[in-house]
Amino acid sequence: MKYDCLVIGGGPGGYAAAIRCAQLGLRSACIEKRKTLGGTCLNVGCIPSKALLYSSELAWKIETQAGAHGIFSQKPRIDFEKMMARKEGVVAGFTQGIEGLFKKNKVDWIQGSALLKGTNQVDVEGTIFEARFIILATGSEPIALPFLPFENQKVLSSTGALALRAIPKKLLVIGAGVIGVELGSVYQRLGSEVVFIEFLDRICPAFDSSLSKGLEKSLRAQGMTFYLSHKVLKADLSQGVSLETQSGEKQEIFSGDAVLVAVGRKPYAEGLGLSGAGVRQDEKGFVQIDASFRTSVPHIFAIGDLVQGPMLAHKASEEGVAVAELIAGHVPKVDYFSIPNVAYTSPEVAGVGLTEEEAKQRSLNYKAAQFPFKANSRARCAGEDEGFVKILAEAKSRKLLGVHIFGAHASELIAEPTLALAQRLTVDQLFETSHAHPTFSEAIKEAALSVFGLPIHL
Ligand code: NAI
Repeated sequence: MKYDCLVIGGGPGGYAAAIRCAQLGLRSACIEKRKTLGGTCLNVGCIPSKALLYSSELAWKIETQAGAHGIFSQKPRIDFEKMMARKEGVVAGFTQGIEGLFKKNKVDWIQGSALLKGTNQVDVEGTIFEARFIILATGSEPIALPFLPFENQKVLSSTGALALRAIPKKLLVIGAGVIGVELGSVYQRLGSEVVFIEFLDRICPAFDSSLSKGLEKSLRAQGMTFYLSHKVLKADLSQGVSLETQSGEKQEIFSGDAVLVAVGRKPYAEGLGLSGAGVRQDEKGFVQIDASFRTSVPHIFAIGDLVQGPMLAHKASEEGVAVAELIAGHVPKVDYFSIPNVAYTSPEVAGVGLTEEEAKQRSLNYKAAQFPFKANSRARCAGEDEGFVKILAEAKSRKLLGVHIFGAHASELIAEPTLALAQRLTVDQLFETSHAHPTFSEAIKEAALSVFGLPIHL
């Protein structure tokens, strides 16, 4: 079978690329070896974790926050099996939805494992497909610690933690990054004792440090325990899980019923035949590309977690659409400066643009200000007034450099600053824009006013 474009990998990068190729008149197919489309994000990542985060947050809020509103009930009873079944239902709805989108856009789904054969051929379990262009979008996989291989009973990757059959009594979490704090929050809310062991001296290192600090304080208040600057040296699985750690000169043992290893992800290209096809990878396994997503083989492109950059579903989708447009002869652009980053904890954290640490590293002349949700009327009405909006702007041009939000609905609120950064707006343009009252978003306007010392409500 001959195609204009063959996409390998059916995640948010790959399926978006295949659909856009078809929309632009290219005969396209997507090769995916899972039984369902959607990749890590839909099957074992963003979507199932958000379903469980929402369910567990609902139970936890009823238990811990409803009383403040004068609502009293018995402690919620958790039917974990039902909660997991709901999550699976949500996932199934979306994966089938992608199949529907493929049909609508006339994208063929070829189910099976792809092996590159030369520059224009792909072998899918014995059948050869030909294409003028190939897009690699095979994503990433969790990194395991050498002495702690995943078996998804006691030693869990994010995939294992999303498919547990029972709530562990005590869950150890190695790595307090985004996956660690999100899944740790789920199980802590459902009754587990959750203990984090983090190598660095702060949690969630990809965010502005003010967000990391605020979140750590809040998660500690919710009952989670953090051991920062701790390196895990060894593990013993003979009885539950026992981890030997080192912090400075001090060695300690931590025990639990299960351990979630959330120390990052690495590019996944197993069995793809990259070297045989002449596609070069760097020392970490990322496929090397130029500014047009072209690999060392001119007709083969690569996007998403398989290439350098933040491992985010929306970044992969942007790249998928861009590469399709490029192949079709357009001149697309992915704006890496305005890609938002979110952790769906409670409160949420979200950031876009430069962190203050990055602004300092670049020796930029900037001004920064924060506006607290305690001074925001809607947040006070809702009883969700923890946190703040922080804005950085260039001192002279007053152009926005970064916006960082710690608070309820941060994942949604970040959309406005993302648009503002994408359009290279100034703080003035942000605060001159009317914001409905009362809304959480007024905190963004007030933070913008605060950058040059003019808040109204502080
Ligand atoms: P991460 O890079 O966010 O965090 C990993 C953490 O593990 C870091 O804090 C790191 O210092 C720590 N660490 C590394 N090695 C360690 C060791 N040996 N012992 C103790 N700590 C160690 O990676 P994570 O959380 O696994 O997520 C992987 C990727 O998936 C990230 O790029 C993330 O952005 C993405 N993701 C995004 C989500 C979202 O957008 N909400 C949700 C989940 C994942």
